[in-house]
Amino acid sequence: MSEAAASAPKVADGAFLRSRLGSFLAVFPLGVWTLGHLWNNLAAFKGEHAWQTAVTEYPHPLAQLVTMIVVLLPLVLHTIWGISRMTQARPNIHKYTFFGNLKYIVQRLSAIGLMLFLGAHIWLAMLHPRFVEGHPEPFHHIAEQMRNHTPTLMVYILGTLGVAYHLANGLHTFAMGWGLVVSRRALKKFDIGVIALFLVFLAMGWGVIYALWSAGA
Ligand code: HEM
Repeated sequence: MSEAAASAPKVADGAFLRSRLGSFLAVFPLGVWTLGHLWNNLAAFKGEHAWQTAVTEYPHPLAQLVTMIVVLLPLVLHTIWGISRMTQARPNIHKYTFFGNLKYIVQRLSAIGLMLFLGAHIWLAMLHPRFVEGHPEPFHHIAEQMRNHTPTLMVYILGTLGVAYHLANGLHTFAMGWGLVVSRRALKKFDIGVIALFLVFLAMGWGVIYALWSAGA
C-alpha cells in the first residue's frame, strides 16, 4: 500500500472529528450560554441592581475566568469552523428547494453579521469596561447608549435578529447533522418549531433592548 493510501483514513477521520466538534461547540456550550445570557439580560426590566447582579457579577473571580474560557474559546473555534465551511460552500440551487437554499444563504449572511456584531459587542460591553476602565459595564451606560446613540440601537436590533435566526436555524441543521431528526415529516414539523424558536429568541433579544432603551430615558 502506498504512503498516501495508508494515511487517507486518518486524514478523513481528522476532518470528520473537526466538523463534529465545530458543530457540537455551536450548541454546547455556545448556544446554551447565549440563551442564558439573553435570559439574564431580561433582568433589565427589573432595573439597575437586578441587571448588574444577573449580567455582570460573579460569585468568585475564578468563576468569571472559567466563564470567559468556556464561552470565548468555543466561539473562536466555532468561528474558525464556520469560516472554513463558508469557503468550502458550493452553490446547489438546482438540487434543493428555494426555501432550503434561502435558509442556507441567510445562515451564512447572519454568520458574517454575527462576526461583526459579536466583535463590537464583546469589546465594548465586556473587554473594554473590565480591562481598560477597570469595572464591568455599568447599567446606566448601556441604557443611555441604547436610548441616545442611534447607531448602537440599530446595531443591537440587527445583531440580536442575526443571533435569533442563526441559533434557531442552526439547531435545525444541528439536529439533521447529528441524525436527531431524520424523516421528511419530522423535518417539516421541526421547520415550524424552528420558526417558533426564532420568534422566542427574537422576543427575548428585542425585549432586552426595549427594557434598556426605556431605562435610558
Ligand atoms: C452567538 C454565537 C453563535 C452561536 C450560538 C452559533 C450557533 C450555531 C449553530 C447551532 C449552528 C448549527 C451547527 C450545525 O449545523 O451542526 C451554526 C452554524 C454555523 N455557524 Fe454559528 N453560531 C454563532 C456564531 C457564529 C459566527 C461568529 C460565525 C462566523 C463565521 C458562525 C458561522 C456559522 C456557519 C457558517 C454555520 C453553518 C455551517 C454549515 O451548515 O455548514 N457562527 N452556528
